[in-house]
Amino acid sequence: MIRWNVSILICLTLIGGGLIYGRNVNLNVPGSNQGFAPQQPLAFSHRVHSGDLAIDCLYCHFGAEKSPRAGIPAANTCMNCHKFVMASWEQTKIEELNAAEEKRDLQLVVSPEIKKLYDAVGYSTESLAYADTTGNNLEWLRVHDLPDFVFFDHSRHVIADVACQTCHGAVETMETVSQESDLSMGWCIECHRDVNSGDNPDFQGKYASLSCAVCHY
Ligand code: HEC
Ligand code: HEC
Ligand code: HEC
Ligand code: HEC
Ligand code: HEC
Repeated sequence: MIRWNVSILICLTLIGGGLIYGRNVNLNVPGSNQGFAPQQPLAFSHRVHSGDLAIDCLYCHFGAEKSPRAGIPAANTCMNCHKFVMASWEQTKIEELNAAEEKRDLQLVVSPEIKKLYDAVGYSTESLAYADTTGNNLEWLRVHDLPDFVFFDHSRHVIADVACQTCHGAVETMETVSQESDLSMGWCIECHRDVNSGDNPDFQGKYASLSCAVCHY
């Protein structure tokens, strides 16, 4: 048993040490999910919300500043706006023009995508009230997912002024979020080395550990 543990440890040290101190060791596991962009149950667009509407990332992902996890907002956060915004401005404008042309009253326009949000939170567009608060939520699919034996802490990076985009790419242009970085150990280490080299003006006076225990339980 002890022997087994020791050889695992040596093995880990060799692989990890190779990644840290060697230049050309490439442990790019075939399972890298780079480019992964699952179709979500509701067509939420970062391009619309973070690009056009310029809503701050932290408005929805407030965990990123204070905790290891950025978190995904609850459907109630969406309702702060979507209790009033039932469709895109374009869809609403078209209905106004049609109603004027046909000389009739305005009808309520509810986008089919926003209807999914209402169904999830039990909001009725007939009574304009919460008819059923069974606490359902939207079931978002995970895009990024590190193995369980790796510890990553958002707040450490966000407080050190590493922009979300450095790791996640230009999310504010994405219709569907896609995994930008390969999330390999080499990727983490390469940046930590860059931080410690003192050469990068973005990381002046910062130090990011290369010790195994910092990233591995
Ligand atoms: C209005 C709320 C809202 C805003 C603002 C927002 N997001 Fe999101 N974000 C979401 C929701 C909801 C999801 C889950 C659905 C999806 O993946 O599109 C998500 C998913 C993500 C994911 C993928 C999560 C995973 O499963 O791995 C990343 C990365 C992300 N957002 C980064 C950002 C960044 C960076 C910004 C700012 C440029 C931002 N978000 C702004 C609501 C928001
Ligand atoms: C700060 C206000 C705000 C928040 C918070 C917000 N939205 Fe929106 N959302 C809007 C506005 C405004 C539009 C219309 C933009 C346009 O027409 O260009 C919109 C558009 C949409 C649309 C597109 C509707 C269509 O059919 O074109 C969907 C879907 C949507 N939002 C879902 C969500 C979800 C899900 C959340 C929560 C994760 C969310 N929104 C949070 C303001 C918000
Ligand atoms: C140093 C790189 C880095 C930075 C900077 C970063 N992220 Fe992440 N993000 C990651 C990694 C790695 C994961 C996967 C974590 C996991 O699977 O445990 C992740 C996961 C996420 C997720 C999925 C949910 C979660 O909590 O794990 C969201 C949402 C997200 N990031 C949003 C953001 C936002 C918003 C910012 C900026 C405020 C940001 N990230 C900054 C690397 C980064
Ligand atoms: C783009 C650069 C960059 C990437 C990529 C990056 N980091 Fe970091 N990391 C930093 C910086 C900068 C700090 C904080 C330095 C400071 O606080 O002075 C840091 C700090 C940390 C810390 C706190 C360590 C300490 O010294 O106390 C951990 C843990 C960590 N990172 C894990 C990870 C993991 C795991 C990944 C990959 C999934 C990763 N980082 C990817 C730049 C990065
Ligand atoms: C800055 C963060 C960080 C540090 C420091 C770090 N690792 Fe890793 N390590 C990771 C990440 C992230 C992965 C997951 C890679 C993946 O899923 O592709 C990983 C994966 C591994 C794996 C599995 C093989 C693989 O590539 O999937 C081993 C073994 C490992 N690390 C050992 C070590 C050892 C030993 C050390 C110290 C010499 C070390 N690591 C230091 C972040 C780190």
